[in-house]
Amino acid sequence: MRRKLVVGNWKMNGSLAMLAELDAIAAAAAAHADVDAGVAVPTTLIAPAVARVPGFAIGAQDVHAAEKGAHTGCVSAAMLVEAGAVFTIVGHSERRHDQGETSQDAWAKAAAAHKHGLGVILCCGETEAERDAGRAERVIQAQVEKSLPENADGSWLTLAYEPRWAIGTGRTPTLDEISAIHSIARARMRHLVGDRADGIRILYGGSVTGDNAASILGAPDVDGALVGGASLTAAKFVPIITAAA
Ligand code: PGA
Repeated sequence: MRRKLVVGNWKMNGSLAMLAELDAIAAAAAAHADVDAGVAVPTTLIAPAVARVPGFAIGAQDVHAAEKGAHTGCVSAAMLVEAGAVFTIVGHSERRHDQGETSQDAWAKAAAAHKHGLGVILCCGETEAERDAGRAERVIQAQVEKSLPENADGSWLTLAYEPRWAIGTGRTPTLDEISAIHSIARARMRHLVGDRADGIRILYGGSVTGDNAASILGAPDVDGALVGGASLTAAKFVPIITAAA
């Protein structure tokens, strides 16, 4: 039985003042012992967020694959660990789109993060054109194949299915469409890592809100949610944590 996991992704939003939102978010997570929750904050806010809500899972939104070196502007897994992060997102579609990251990059980042003890949320998702062309399933299979580390298991890795056209748009796939992709992703993971795939949670992400969370989280093979816009305030995010319980 996989525990539900709800993760916020603040993206390039937030400030020291906004960390006050984490108080009620962490309290809600503590009140629902059957749900795991966390928030991926901007890099500069990791250490102050950890100091503000000790014991609540604070994560990063990206990591560099290398240990150290001449990579201006980048941050290593060891640096994230030192700041207090316990997980990182890799392969988010905004990084694929804005920074040209590939599934191979996501693979290398996931491996580097795991080496340093970080949990990993590995993202995949098709574009609108790919879905319209009937290629969503094949795109997800290919992304999972290229990005899933060989030693993946549910103790450290979570997959997130985030159709790019659903991110920040207020549009979501139907529940059947979400479950269909999740079960295809799980079958592909089983092919790659065997029974260990059964312990890997698959989150849905893309316009999850307090209004649709209960139905999405109740859909077959959905183990949680990755939430952008609706994670920026406790008033919007706490109901999603509650819906997972
Ligand atoms: P959204 O973003 O909830 O604002 O659609 C989701 C994500 O990108 O993780």
